[in-house]
Amino acid sequence: MAQPLVIAPSVLASDFSKLGQEVRDVVEAGADWIHLDVMDGHFVPNITFGPDVIAKLRPHTDKVFDTHLMIEPCDPYLEAFAKAGSDYITVHAEATVHLDRSLQAIRDLGKKAGVSLNPATHESCLEYVLDRLDMILVMTVNPGFGGQKFIESQVEKVARIKSMIGDRPIRIQIDGGITPQTAPLVTKAGADTLVAGSAVFKGGTIDSYRENIAAIRAAAQV
Ligand code: DX5
Ligand code: ZN
Repeated sequence: MAQPLVIAPSVLASDFSKLGQEVRDVVEAGADWIHLDVMDGHFVPNITFGPDVIAKLRPHTDKVFDTHLMIEPCDPYLEAFAKAGSDYITVHAEATVHLDRSLQAIRDLGKKAGVSLNPATHESCLEYVLDRLDMILVMTVNPGFGGQKFIESQVEKVARIKSMIGDRPIRIQIDGGITPQTAPLVTKAGADTLVAGSAVFKGGTIDSYRENIAAIRAAAQV
């Protein structure tokens, strides 16, 4: 693994009625980053939250805010998500016509730039933007909902992306169906950043979050 392992719990699986508390609890339980899933009911068939919620969460922790935009278009909203306190902003390759421009815009806002690929999207769309990227997010479910089954065909895509990026300092992030069982499949293939929603927040207490994160971390270090 080129970069240190990062576990990024997705608050999508937390109790939205007490989001600030959930963020503080999951950080205390060992989260490295906080993954924030923004859905628009158009690019994906679900709706979550926008930049105002992220701005209100920002004072609750110093951890990296990893904002996963599942919105189309994305360009008109990048500045708002940057101002809200995102550290990484990831857009979907399928949700922007001018991917190169979207990535430049994120970096011009002083943020780390990520691209996410749906399970059916080929990694070749990354070839000409590799030098504008800080992170590639391989979706291992179809975006929109937590608690779905891991799609195994994506493991091969991770390995191909790993060889494409060479020695560039680009993180490979995986999102969807990550558990202690699936985590080692993707870290063996080259992933270094794992998003997990239901597998982290199951149990609903800080002690269970701690156990859940530790189990994923132990399983992923192969
Ligand atoms: C799905 C989201 C994920 C989701 C993962 O569209 O991008 O971040 O929270 O949930 P689990 O880990 O339950 O598959
Ligand atoms: Zn996500």
